[in-house]
Amino acid sequence: MIHLSAPARYLILALSILLGLHWILALTHEEYGRATSLSTLISGSNKPHRPDENLEQYYYTPPTPDPDTETSLESISNVTHLLTDTSRRRANATLLMLARNGDVDGAVRSVREMEDRFNRRFGYPYVFLNEEPFSEEFKKRVSVLSNAPMEFGLIPHDHWYQPNWIDEPKAEAARKKMENEQIIYGGSVSYRNMCRFNSGFFFKHPLVQQYRWYWRIEPDVHFHCDVQFDPFLYMEDHDKVYSFTIAMYEFEATIPTLWQTVTDFKNKHPEFIAKDNAMNFLSDNGGERYNLCHFWSNFEIADMEFWRGPAYTAFFEHLESTGGFYYERWGDAPVHSIAAALFARKDQIHFWDEIGYEHNPYTHCPQSEANWKRGKCSCNQQKSFDYDGYSCMMRWDQVMGWK
Ligand SMILES: *[C@@H]1O[C@H](CO)[C@@H](O)[C@H](O)[C@H]1NC(C)=O
Ligand SMILES: *[C@@H]1O[C@H](CO)[C@@H](O)[C@H](O)[C@H]1NC(C)=O
Repeated sequence: MIHLSAPARYLILALSILLGLHWILALTHEEYGRATSLSTLISGSNKPHRPDENLEQYYYTPPTPDPDTETSLESISNVTHLLTDTSRRRANATLLMLARNGDVDGAVRSVREMEDRFNRRFGYPYVFLNEEPFSEEFKKRVSVLSNAPMEFGLIPHDHWYQPNWIDEPKAEAARKKMENEQIIYGGSVSYRNMCRFNSGFFFKHPLVQQYRWYWRIEPDVHFHCDVQFDPFLYMEDHDKVYSFTIAMYEFEATIPTLWQTVTDFKNKHPEFIAKDNAMNFLSDNGGERYNLCHFWSNFEIADMEFWRGPAYTAFFEHLESTGGFYYERWGDAPVHSIAAALFARKDQIHFWDEIGYEHNPYTHCPQSEANWKRGKCSCNQQKSFDYDGYSCMMRWDQVMGWK
């Protein structure tokens, strides 16, 4: 038997009382329990206090369709009245998809969900872009989904293909090396073409140039919640330029010299760096090193005036001049993210909790119970990528002071 001194016995008694109290509080007060549970204390992952915004003023409910069933079913995808109703405020915006003819099944699925979850209430026009002419089959199968205006464009040769001044043997050696290292798309030229196009050219396409705002959609993505508000008008009214649903880390091997190139640009053009920018999202030491965080750009709702403006124009030219899109494998996600984080104020970058979005293998599902219910979401909140170890959302919460 162990003999305890009197003070030790008192200590144990006091500890038992404390633990007992904690146990009772944890059982009776859900919030207390969540905030102090051992796993939370260890990982520090208690939910952030994101602002719960009311977007109701951006809601639009179309007139109730005729109760006669046949016409009402038809009118679900008939947005003619939306397009002709001049009393409604609309954004100068398009739904933009880059796709190939072979992507038609995935494109159809994405547009179908986009219509069901969002666009049947708003009737925004679509633009589809392709590096070769769209087939009649593609146009037919996509057009049948909605009578929102749809345009199908061909990407100009120079906006897509590797420029002649790129040293092809050097680029080829880089691709071989990445392929051997098994880096995703490391050996692909067309993936590089796409990344460069999405970084510096999509907003210059004649069909896209007529718009200010875009919502980027890819084939085979999912929209899990009703979006009953107009995200474009919300952004316009709140002076936002860029928005996202998922943030994560980039593969360092695809961008070995990108940060040095960015740093050179910053030093050359301090006038473009915004006050109150989101540098702390990109770097843990004030900009010395890139922590690889970026917004996942296969979903974007953004203001193209930002990409067309002087800061981003100079930035893209600077990146392009190094050949890094081909000698390495710079993605449009880090390029867009770094630009948004440096040339815009951090409050001009918006995170949508409301928009449930899935691009294999990751899903963002609204973390706010109210958003999840309001959106009639089909996603599982527990499986949201937000606080996955590979997500950068925790860092964004800190940058915004929500943590
Ligand atoms: C769509 O609705 C408009 C009036 O709102 C009507 O004139 C038109 O015929 C309808 N189109 C289809 C395909 O139902
Ligand atoms: C929409 O935006 C584009 C690009 O800023 C502009 O050229 C166009 O005139 C705008 N259209 C309308 C109707 O305001």
